[in-house]
Amino acid sequence: MTRAIILSGGWGTRLRPLTCTIPKTLIPIVNKPVIERQMLLLKSAGVKEIVLAVSVMDDVIKRYFKEGENLGIKIHYTLEKHPKGTAGALKLAESYLKDDNFFMLNGDVVLNYDMEDMLKFHEKYKGIGTIAGKTVEDPSRFGVLIANNETHQLLEFLEKDEYSPPNGKIVPMPINAGVYLLEPEIFSFIEPNKKVSIEREVFPKVAKEKKLFYYPISGIWNDVGKPHDLIQANILLMNDLIKSLDGNVKNLVDYSADIHPSSEIHPPCTIGENVVIHGNCKIGPNVVIGDNVLIENNAELSNCLIYNEVYISNNVKIEKAIIADNCNIRENVIIKGNNENLVILASYVEVISNLELIAPKTISLSVCHHEVVRESMK
Ligand code: GDD
Ligand code: MG
Repeated sequence: MTRAIILSGGWGTRLRPLTCTIPKTLIPIVNKPVIERQMLLLKSAGVKEIVLAVSVMDDVIKRYFKEGENLGIKIHYTLEKHPKGTAGALKLAESYLKDDNFFMLNGDVVLNYDMEDMLKFHEKYKGIGTIAGKTVEDPSRFGVLIANNETHQLLEFLEKDEYSPPNGKIVPMPINAGVYLLEPEIFSFIEPNKKVSIEREVFPKVAKEKKLFYYPISGIWNDVGKPHDLIQANILLMNDLIKSLDGNVKNLVDYSADIHPSSEIHPPCTIGENVVIHGNCKIGPNVVIGDNVLIENNAELSNCLIYNEVYISNNVKIEKAIIADNCNIRENVIIKGNNENLVILASYVEVISNLELIAPKTISLSVCHHEVVRESMK
């Protein structure tokens, strides 16, 4: 096994307006695109070549990764003019993947676990496929896995709307984590030149033949389908990365960051390259700041994600929010989401001075890319 395919072609509609300018799979998780994090993990498990199955905003993805030279992995691309579904996309990559088993990943899941161990498991059980799973409290948004706990055999694969909980009561269940190890035999289950879903049309058939196995993930896993998931996934991975470092390290701060001594960083926080933070700021907990961000005096930031090239002027407060790249927040602005709903500013938004953007209880407050906000919003 030296190859993998990452599905990178969905629309990311539930992450709009962020995904109007950033393809879902390039959304940063602790300052690296979701799929770059996946590629680094695959590389550590011995993967040397990756097929990126792209469709929507393919040009942006290709410009970012090129042929993989910066990552030390060879990247190939398959392009669907119109998304062909998860199995349709896989079928297009058959010529790259027909000789040996390979990993297949949904490009919108954050992971940190031992993928080599999953490969050993797959080779031991000798199925056509091994599906990584994670038990979650509410399985209704995911594909549900019904497995035999002793043989690890997958008895049933039920995609979202195909599963109804016993007596209508939601109980924790293992769900499809969107990471598979597959044998080339899988291609014989997929009709060519058609839109096909691997979850709905392929896995149930392989499960029926008793050739599908369930591998429980022991490390971290988080899907990034909705804005709240983004904050949660960043916190989860940030804590995991900090845990793996020297016990005294509490934040991930790039050496190039220039932080005024009067400013406080409350862990856990991540601060990217060439970030400048002026005096009397309170940053954290749970803040991830990208590269080339300038934060002026007296800022208070908590539970928020600040992408690259953002400018934050004096006396700004940001809480429970996502501020995408190149936003410009002027003086005395308050941006505040709540536990149910975030404030989301897409790329290149400008917020003029003395405004308050407060998310209501019932709906998130989003501003589309390149807009100038001139009035308070509540
Ligand atoms: N190339 C390509 N073409 N990629 C696609 C296509 C397509 O037609 N359709 C979806 N993808 C990519 C998406 O970009 C994403 O990375 C991945 O495939 C999964 O698609 P989603 O649309 O995000 O599916 P989901 O989140 O509702 O459900 C899937 O993921 C869950 C785990 O996060 C399913 O696989 C569930 O069973 C699973 O539990
Ligand atoms: Mg998804």
